[in-house]
Amino acid sequence: MRNSSWGFLLMFLSAFLLDLDAFELRKGQKTERISGSAGDVLEDDPVGRLKVFVYELPSKYNKKILQKDPRCLNHMFAAEIYMHRFLLSSPVRTLNPEEADWFYTPVYTTCDLTPNGLPLPFKSPRMMRSAIQLISSNWPYWNRTEGADHFFIVPHDFGACFHYQEEKAIERGILPLLQRATLVQTFGQRNHVCLKDGSITVPPYAPPQKMQSHLIPPSIPRSIFVYFRGLGARAAVWENFKDNPLFDISTEHPTTYYEDMQRAVFCLCPLGWAPWSPRLVEAVIFGCIPVIIADDIVLPFADAIPWEDIGVYVDEKDVPNLDTILTSIPTEVILRKQRLLANPSMKQAMLFPHPAQPGDAFHQILNGLARKLPHDKSVYLRKGEKVLNWTAGPLADLKPW
Ligand SMILES: *[C@@H]1O[C@H](CO)[C@@H](O)[C@H](O)[C@H]1NC(C)=O
Ligand SMILES: *[C@@H]1O[C@H](CO)[C@@H](O)[C@H](O)[C@H]1NC(C)=O
Repeated sequence: MRNSSWGFLLMFLSAFLLDLDAFELRKGQKTERISGSAGDVLEDDPVGRLKVFVYELPSKYNKKILQKDPRCLNHMFAAEIYMHRFLLSSPVRTLNPEEADWFYTPVYTTCDLTPNGLPLPFKSPRMMRSAIQLISSNWPYWNRTEGADHFFIVPHDFGACFHYQEEKAIERGILPLLQRATLVQTFGQRNHVCLKDGSITVPPYAPPQKMQSHLIPPSIPRSIFVYFRGLGARAAVWENFKDNPLFDISTEHPTTYYEDMQRAVFCLCPLGWAPWSPRLVEAVIFGCIPVIIADDIVLPFADAIPWEDIGVYVDEKDVPNLDTILTSIPTEVILRKQRLLANPSMKQAMLFPHPAQPGDAFHQILNGLARKLPHDKSVYLRKGEKVLNWTAGPLADLKPW
């Protein structure tokens, strides 16, 4: 009885959605103006609002590592490489460090992969430390602020804590030399040792061309109500919904994964176990409403993207009621979320395309940096003043790299 009424709802919903798509195609435009919580920040253009100086480092900190293992271009932390390439030819780059607002040190700390392609962060602290030593002795700018006008791309699991196990990451804390710098990272969890105030949370890297090649015509109805593939810490909980006809859930990763997401209304994004899961990016790209199940998560570009309007937040404790929660969302609310998701600027902000495009994730990072300007006077140290402790942290990290 219950199931059949849900079935009816679903038929109704997909008919409705099909209609909407047709309507939008007729109108010939799919956008709706989106206001982020900080204004229309997605429309900011960072050019002219900041100047970035890119330190030139020996290639052993970046290009050589990549040459050794080109797989680093495709894993989900590859943003550190693409951001470097982007900045080198970006109009915000300045060759004159005297006029720079921000300093960027191109170190590829996640490009050390296991045979299976998983990035290991064990050498990252020494490598990072070595790079900072180098810039601080060859240029005067680090010592001026001890890094407070420097930013670093640290996309590893727990950012600059440089460990993939949470307990160890917490024990290590953020690398002491980075304590004044701005960190650009995928890891975002409020009140966590590894998320410093003022960090910029970015999406994980997901290959744009690959996703593009799996697009299906927008007129195909979304006939799946809830979609999820994979394991995840709370899989046991939604095992409950396995036999529920509204839920298309399994641990197997089908070849039609991307297509399936485009046929679904809701996509579960349980970010609790892996904060940097690419599911969220995939959901946005494929117009599937992300159901964010991750208490205290800080989502990518949260000051620019109206995540509450696009997605659905479900408390971890409420997962057993997922069916009721999702089926009681009014159709017009669902349609509005889908319309917002259809906005190309929303998708663009989640991607690191090459070549770069206006409004993409590179530009959102720059927007985030521009919004932190001008630097407070307090970032500049008095002559001879020192704040950082160069000998703090685990002894093994102090060894030369
Ligand atoms: C910056 O300070 C360190 C000591 O903290 C010193 O070794 C280094 O030479 C200084 N850099 C410059 C460019 O003066
Ligand atoms: C720097 O850190 C080391 C190691 O934790 C500690 O022994 C030392 O006292 C610290 N120095 C200062 C000036 O706080």
